[in-house]
Amino acid sequence: MAEVGNIPRLTVEHLAPHARPMAVLKKSEPSAPIGVFDSGVGGLSVLSEVMKQLPNEDVIYLADTARVPFGGRPVQEIIKINHQILNFFSRQGVKMVIMACGTSSAIAYPKVKAEYKFPIISMIEPGARAARMATKNKIVGVIATQNTIDSGAFQDALWIEDKVKEVVAEACPLFVPLIEGGFIEAEETKKVAEEYLKPHIKAGVDTLILGCTHYPHLRKILHAIIKAELIDPAVEVAKEAKGVLSKKHLNKTDPAPGHYTYYVTSNPLQFETLGSKLLGRAIVGVKHVEL
Ligand code: DGL
Repeated sequence: MAEVGNIPRLTVEHLAPHARPMAVLKKSEPSAPIGVFDSGVGGLSVLSEVMKQLPNEDVIYLADTARVPFGGRPVQEIIKINHQILNFFSRQGVKMVIMACGTSSAIAYPKVKAEYKFPIISMIEPGARAARMATKNKIVGVIATQNTIDSGAFQDALWIEDKVKEVVAEACPLFVPLIEGGFIEAEETKKVAEEYLKPHIKAGVDTLILGCTHYPHLRKILHAIIKAELIDPAVEVAKEAKGVLSKKHLNKTDPAPGHYTYYVTSNPLQFETLGSKLLGRAIVGVKHVEL
C-alpha cells in the first residue's frame, strides 16, 4: 500500500477487479478497432483517407447527427458532447480515436486528450502542417466553423516555424447545413461559397485549409472559385494515425480488409443515403445509439 506521510493510501491495485476503472483492466490490442467521429457526414472525408492509408484497420464511425451542427454551440456543450462520444468509444474498446471534426479538435481536444487511455488524433496540427509545407507565397487561408475560427487553433498552429506571414481565417456557417441537406453542387451552395471566399481571393492566398471535415465534400465547387491549393487535413491525419499505431505497436497484423461499423444518434437511413453518396461506397446497417 502506498503511504503518504503516515497515512496509508489506497491505490487501484487494492480495489476489487470489478471496481477498477476500465483503463487499468484492459490494454489496447492491435486487433481493436479505431474510433472515428464527427457531428455528421463530414468525418467521412477522413474515413475515406483512413480506408486508403490503413486499409486493413477496423473502424467504428460515429456521427452525432442528433446534434449536428457543432460549429455554433457553446464551448462547454462541445466538451460535454466530446466526453460522451469518447466514453462511447471507450466502452467499444477502441485502440485510438480520430477526431474527424475540426470543431471538436479545436475546442475539446486540448481539454480531453490526456483523459483517455487511447491516443486521440486531432485535425489541427496535421492540417496546419500540410499548409505550412504547401504555401509558397506564405499567405494561407482557413475556412472552418465559427467555433474553430474563433478558437484561433489553426491560426496559432500556422505561425509555427515562420513558414507563414499572413493568415486569412473565415467562418462558413452555412456550409454544414447545406452539405447535410445534400446540396453539394447546388447553385445556392456555389453562391454562398463565392461570398465566403472573397476575402481569401482578395488577399491572394495560395493555400486554403479546409478546416471543417465537411468542406472536402465541396472540393469541386471550391476549386472552381479559388486558385489555391486546397488542403484536406485528412491526408496528414491518416498519416499521423498510422505513425502513432506503429510507434505503439498497435497496427492490426491481420491483412484482411478492414471492417466498418457505423453509428448515428438520429436517423440511420438518412445517413446511409447521403453517406454512401459522399463516401463513394455503400454504407449499410447503420445503427442508432443513445449517447
Ligand atoms: N465536420 C465538423 C467540423 O469539422 C463539424 C461541423 C459542425 O457540426 O458544425 O468542424
